[in-house]
Amino acid sequence: MTITFIGHGYVGLVTACVFADFGNEVYVIGHTPTKIARLKQGDPIIYEPGLKELLEKNIKAHRLHFTVKYEEAISRSEIVFITVGTPPKANGEADLSQVMNVAEQIAPHLKNDLTVVSCKSTVPVGTNLRIEALLSRKKPAAARVAVASCPEFLREGSAIDDTINADRVVIGSNSPEAKHLLLKLHEPIAGKRVLTDLASAELIKYTANAILANKISFANLISFFCETTGADVEDVLDAVGLDKRIGRIFMNPGVGYGGSCFPKDVKALISIGQQHQIDVEMLKAIDTINSQTRTNFLKKVEQNLDGNTVAIWGLSFKPNTDDIRFAPSLAVVATLLKRGLHLRVFDPVAMDNFRKQFTQPQLTYSKNAYEAVKDSDALLILTEWNEFRQVDLKKVRSLMRRPLIIDGRNIYKPAVMKELGFQYISTGRQPIL
Ligand SMILES: NC(=O)c1ccc[n+]([C@@H]2O[C@H](COP(=O)([O-])OP(=O)(O)OC[C@H]3O[C@@H](n4cnc5c(N)ncnc54)[C@H](O)[C@@H]3O)[C@@H](O)[C@H]2O)c1
Repeated sequence: MTITFIGHGYVGLVTACVFADFGNEVYVIGHTPTKIARLKQGDPIIYEPGLKELLEKNIKAHRLHFTVKYEEAISRSEIVFITVGTPPKANGEADLSQVMNVAEQIAPHLKNDLTVVSCKSTVPVGTNLRIEALLSRKKPAAARVAVASCPEFLREGSAIDDTINADRVVIGSNSPEAKHLLLKLHEPIAGKRVLTDLASAELIKYTANAILANKISFANLISFFCETTGADVEDVLDAVGLDKRIGRIFMNPGVGYGGSCFPKDVKALISIGQQHQIDVEMLKAIDTINSQTRTNFLKKVEQNLDGNTVAIWGLSFKPNTDDIRFAPSLAVVATLLKRGLHLRVFDPVAMDNFRKQFTQPQLTYSKNAYEAVKDSDALLILTEWNEFRQVDLKKVRSLMRRPLIIDGRNIYKPAVMKELGFQYISTGRQPIL
């Protein structure tokens, strides 16, 4: 098939490369000529494991084309995917300007044979109907178009595998022809097919993200109970998670969720609920607890830090990505810099993105984890990168001025840390002081 993706971020570029790898002819439309030039040279711009190799392979095979011109791609395509951003507005509502802008640019190039315009961006209920109305108004009179909602569930860090081995493929549309074409395109993809209407498809994505965010906030709420009552959150959640109705997966207490999806999607669902006069107190609590985890973490720093040099391991919102959008590190670093502390940070891949926002002279970007802890008065762990799990902790201890670790991801065992002589403060477990 010939298909087009508009937007080449974590969703657009990954899915474009995967479908090109299956043998499809794939166009990717961007709006920044310098980025399109880099993509054509095989530079994915973003970091995602395996993406560069997949990109280079499919450029070489002449199945993947990059352009800023809609006329080069749309009229040739059977399916056009919208994969642009839907960031939050100040009031939490999803900003749909990118989505509506690209829909407007697609319209004049639609052809007489059917084109399916499928939105993969996460959008509030009713958005696909708005896209449909706009396309009908602006398309050439004889052009045929059908709209479908195909929400995306990939996770940054394992996006290629998630796309190929999906848990489910959701296709929402009022058009049987659109459903048929999308089913055909998704044939090589694993996972159950869920064929539904537009509104359900749109709501499925928000529901999934709200439940996942809720699991994290619930684990964090219980960690607050543990810290004040002397219980151990890992034991509590391990035992609770053995109940098959509950499960342990994603019940991770720590410094809270971040990234470009959970924070904005919980807020957007709150906003959708408010527009429909639905009581959204439960959703607001998920968001509030997430903010409280940051405050709780910073309080531990405030109460235990003796000195002014702090090492930070992990800046990305989770391991295996360079994405720092709404990452816990942003709030932690900004607060500590305001306090006048010297920070020595290290992240395996996210430092370039962090440098674009933080250029203060009190902040040093370190070459590796050991360099970051040298002469530091505390080490804060904000992202559970694998390479931090088995560092030489004796070496870390010898490099630090004071052996204090505040672990926002619970990656070490308190008993081991005690034996190594660390002051170790983690989440929802009794501190080793
Ligand atoms: N990142 C994820 O893990 C993930 C997972 C599932 C769903 N989503 C959803 O998918 C959507 C995209 O997310 P993302 O993380 O890939 O975003 P992103 O910011 O990484 O990428 C968005 C892309 O759209 C491009 N763009 C913006 N306006 C454009 C225009 N007018 N013309 C052409 N391109 C334009 C940007 O340049 C960028 O390449 C969002 O709605 C998000 O909620 C994201």
